[in-house]
Amino acid sequence: MQRSTKSTVIVAAIAMAAFVTSLTAFQGQAPAAAARGQRPAGAAAQTPGNATPAQNPPATPPAQAPAAAAPQKPLVPVAASSVAANPDPYINEFVTLTGAVEANLTQTSFSVDQDKTKSTGKEVLVIAPTMQKQAEQNGYVTVIGQLVKFDEKEVAAKLKDYKIDLSPADIAKYKGKPVVLATAVINNAGVDIAKKPVPPMTADDLTLQKIMTKLPGAQAAIRKSLDSKDMAGSKEQATLLKDSFTQIESFWKAKNNEEAMKFAAEGKSHADNILVNLGMNNVDAAKTSIAPLGATCGSCHGKYRERMDDGTFRIKTAS
Ligand code: HEC
Repeated sequence: MQRSTKSTVIVAAIAMAAFVTSLTAFQGQAPAAAARGQRPAGAAAQTPGNATPAQNPPATPPAQAPAAAAPQKPLVPVAASSVAANPDPYINEFVTLTGAVEANLTQTSFSVDQDKTKSTGKEVLVIAPTMQKQAEQNGYVTVIGQLVKFDEKEVAAKLKDYKIDLSPADIAKYKGKPVVLATAVINNAGVDIAKKPVPPMTADDLTLQKIMTKLPGAQAAIRKSLDSKDMAGSKEQATLLKDSFTQIESFWKAKNNEEAMKFAAEGKSHADNILVNLGMNNVDAAKTSIAPLGATCGSCHGKYRERMDDGTFRIKTAS
């Protein structure tokens, strides 16, 4: 049942896409409701929960998603109207939802429905935390993200760094209604208006980067030196690591970030242990500090480093 509903909704989504295309050609002379995936009037009451428009013959559904291995669930294409009419099959799915922007509610949220010209009263809420500019009212958009039922607590749990900015009235209005937590909002010019620009590196990013870029090399070098029992080389690299961690610690001290200072201090103490053990000619003991030293890099990066879309890194501030 769920499956067949989905297939027919996909058919509706395709009809929707066809509608969008034909709309451009016909300057708004909309084809019959069939193309919009609408149910004939009166049918709704007789077929509750069934999104199949009577006049849409069952067709072979397209492959639901590209065969390429995706890290998450495959995206389900759907029209806003289908979701509004019968959200349940889509809850928790990752969707590409197409619709027309009904209202820009806040900087980061808007509602979509299916009809460009009138309010159908069947809107789907979209929350896109990274929205860069408002969507064009009545313009068609394709949003990509997970569809859930709107609930303040659930949205807060799913979008950790996001603060819901809807009015209390809208929060009440959309409670329990479908919402897409969008990571992309593609407008009718094909531009993703929820794509975060890559900010330039700040002076702080650059200061830290100068220290950081030496570290992977130093880690590799000290492993090699210890393996070949090159005491002088090992000491040199351990000293470089220790000095670097000292600099990292004072960097974060100036920022009043005690947790980051602690990560740096841990790294420093592991580098210190290496030096102490090398002083006692105990290479094997020195080696045992290599892994925990590396772990401090990961702890700090997990919390205070952010990777940009272009692969460069920044200090992560919002946390
Ligand atoms: C206390 C926090 C902290 C510790 C400890 C730390 N890092 Fe970093 N690291 C950062 C931050 C923040 C950035 C992002 C800003 C930047 O690029 O400098 C970063 C960036 C980097 C980069 C990317 C540099 C670039 O821009 O190309 C590398 C490589 C790196 N760290 C390696 C290491 C290694 C290896 C260690 C451990 C031996 C380490 N870091 C320990 C916070 C830390």
